[in-house]
Amino acid sequence: LMNDSEVTPFSVPGYACQRRCTLENHNAVLTDALSLLAENAELSDEDGRGVAFRRAAAVLKALPSAVTNMSQLTGLPCLGGHSLRVIKDILENGTSSEVESTKESERFKALKVLTGIFGVGSKTADRWIREGIHNLQQLRDSGQTLNRAQQAGLEHYDDIKQPVSLAEAEAIRGIVGRAVASVSPEAQIVLTGGFRRGKLTGHDVDFLITHPEEGSEVGLMPKLVSWLESRVSCHLQNVLLICDVIFLLMFALFCRFSLCCFIDKQTRRWRAVRVDLVVSPISQFAFALLGWTGSKLFERELRRWAGHEKGMSLSSHALYDNKQGRYIRASSEEEIFAHLGLEFIPPNERNA
Ligand code: GTP
Ligand code: MN
Ligand code: MN
Repeated sequence: LMNDSEVTPFSVPGYACQRRCTLENHNAVLTDALSLLAENAELSDEDGRGVAFRRAAAVLKALPSAVTNMSQLTGLPCLGGHSLRVIKDILENGTSSEVESTKESERFKALKVLTGIFGVGSKTADRWIREGIHNLQQLRDSGQTLNRAQQAGLEHYDDIKQPVSLAEAEAIRGIVGRAVASVSPEAQIVLTGGFRRGKLTGHDVDFLITHPEEGSEVGLMPKLVSWLESRVSCHLQNVLLICDVIFLLMFALFCRFSLCCFIDKQTRRWRAVRVDLVVSPISQFAFALLGWTGSKLFERELRRWAGHEKGMSLSSHALYDNKQGRYIRASSEEEIFAHLGLEFIPPNERNA
């Protein structure tokens, strides 16, 4: 063991959007622990605490080697007393009692199972738990009224819980890409989300669609959806079979749909996969691309940086300069980083 005097503290910038963070993580044990506490806080509607743990985890993810001594953390940003206690516990004892007891708590387990159902958020899960529902069987037996998304989510629970592979994501891109091409030949489709950051698995597949001519993207989503519903139904394509679009949810403002489809892989098994489809006008495309690539914390930190350091408001539609009272145009991610006074970080280094 090193003496504190021999230890060189790590140093990282304060905002995650100033840091390069690949998928290589030298502190996975620590970041898994902090992420679990973040998840527990988020599921308990304590978003502030959740963000604090997420920020702490992101700082550790960005370190060039494993933390072995608390004094290496001196002066690092975003590490509050609570996170430091958890880290110290793990460095000294191999585990954190708080993390272990959270993991084992009936409430956390029930919240995870219930919010794992597509269409069920923490508020609904909390209400069910207070009514004595802790698992899927109890939910099925309870006679609770479920909306269409939740019914599908419950029916395909095991499928949706299973990670989507990159190969599956690319196969789905092929199908959605053909659908897009047939309703609007010039439209373009990009894989965003975790896969664009280099992840090999994901909880869903995220697509962003645009059209080179402003305005031509209007109405694309409903056309795409009816194409998928009518033509993809029971349409055999090599080893891939999409049989049914089981539900569609529209968020009018974002022109966004989540849909779920069955795929037949080489195993000939059917499975349901979550797909997020977003349509963006070309004038907003760079903002949408940046906003839907993630990670969630990277996005949150970009918005915090824009607001606190630059007096600007960033969304997945636009960048607004609060002082000058005007929108700032950008046609690429690089331009947006430049407007924000940030060094460009490529997608594979946005894994905060
Ligand atoms: P996996 O799906 O688990 O691989 O992770 P992911 O990073 O792809 O996460 P997810 O699909 O949940 O989100 C991808 C990106 O979309 C993230 O940057 C989110 O911030 C963003 N996102 C998710 N939901 C919304 C939303 O409702 N509105 C906007 N504007 N962005 C969203
Ligand atoms: Mn995703
Ligand atoms: Mn998504």
